[in-house]
Amino acid sequence: MTDLATLEAEIVSAVQASADLAGLDAVRVTVLGKSGSISALLKGLGSMGPDERREQGPLINGLRDRVQAALTERKTALEAAALDAQLAAERLDLTLPAPPRRRGSVHPTMQVMDEMTAIFAEMGFAVADGPDIEDDFHNFTALNFPPKHPARETHDTFFFSPNEAGERMLLRTHTSPVQIRTMVSQTPPIRIIAPGRTYRKDSDQTHTPMFHQVEGLVIDRNIHMGHLKWTLETFVGRFFETSDVVTRFRPHHFPFTEPSAELDVQCDRTGGELKVGQGSSWLEVLGCGMVHPNVIKNCGLDPDEWQGFAFGMGVDRLAMLKYGVPDLRDMFASDVRWLAHYGFSPFAAPSAAGGLS
Ligand code: PHE
Repeated sequence: MTDLATLEAEIVSAVQASADLAGLDAVRVTVLGKSGSISALLKGLGSMGPDERREQGPLINGLRDRVQAALTERKTALEAAALDAQLAAERLDLTLPAPPRRRGSVHPTMQVMDEMTAIFAEMGFAVADGPDIEDDFHNFTALNFPPKHPARETHDTFFFSPNEAGERMLLRTHTSPVQIRTMVSQTPPIRIIAPGRTYRKDSDQTHTPMFHQVEGLVIDRNIHMGHLKWTLETFVGRFFETSDVVTRFRPHHFPFTEPSAELDVQCDRTGGELKVGQGSSWLEVLGCGMVHPNVIKNCGLDPDEWQGFAFGMGVDRLAMLKYGVPDLRDMFASDVRWLAHYGFSPFAAPSAAGGLS
């Protein structure tokens, strides 16, 4: 009897003294394991006489139950302490502010689109819109590209698979289809710009498969090339915010304008940098011309009454020139370091009154 009480006191103090789960399990094995002290006592019951067993049985079983309970209690306490220690070690302070460089910024292309919209809005242009996925009629035919005309090939078009009727939809190769959509749905006089995405199979330092254009269209009575030149020269001066920019109009051909021209901006490309107002290179930034009478007719208007001019600007290229980005492909690489360097604050939206860059 005294032996059992001593044994129990020893075991309980060993249980309480164990500092971690491994130590506690070692105590459990020495007591309740195969050759543990209590297991030996339980085994001894078999060799006792009935009277002795009746007396010792409850005592030994009681001892086992109390030791078991002490082990469980200590185990729960040690597990809770281990969890507390782990939580303390892995603590994260969620109230810390994010590092400033991770803040989002406005992409130069979007900034330039907003700048262009602000400049043209001041000149009285409204913003029009059209779908990125176009049909052959709006992208080519209505714009006076004859069927099988080689100019269709120069656009390196992305086509979709033909539908049941054999027609292939396409990713618009320019924003000029918005000219058609606007002339068909509005009555002149018309003065719109149409910013948007355009697509061609092309990739080098000044070409990317997806790029951005801003289309412009003016339809009114007695419109002539002088209106076109004034509008574009005024735009360029305001956009670059300097009189140092040198431009040149170069005769060109587009099926939907006659006469047609391209506008280049003089720039310097030496030393891996891009600067305007100096240098011996020219970067083509837009196509333009007087809207072809056939296009006006295709939209149900009388070309003897209505004339106009149109232009299509390369937004990303104008962004390259204004903000000195040497390679167009970097603009779409989604590199956060590039965006942190070239991006704009979302709180400084361009406006004619508040400044354009
Ligand atoms: N759509 C032409 C292009 O992408 C640009 C353009 C627009 C030319 C309007 C003339 C008039 O190359």
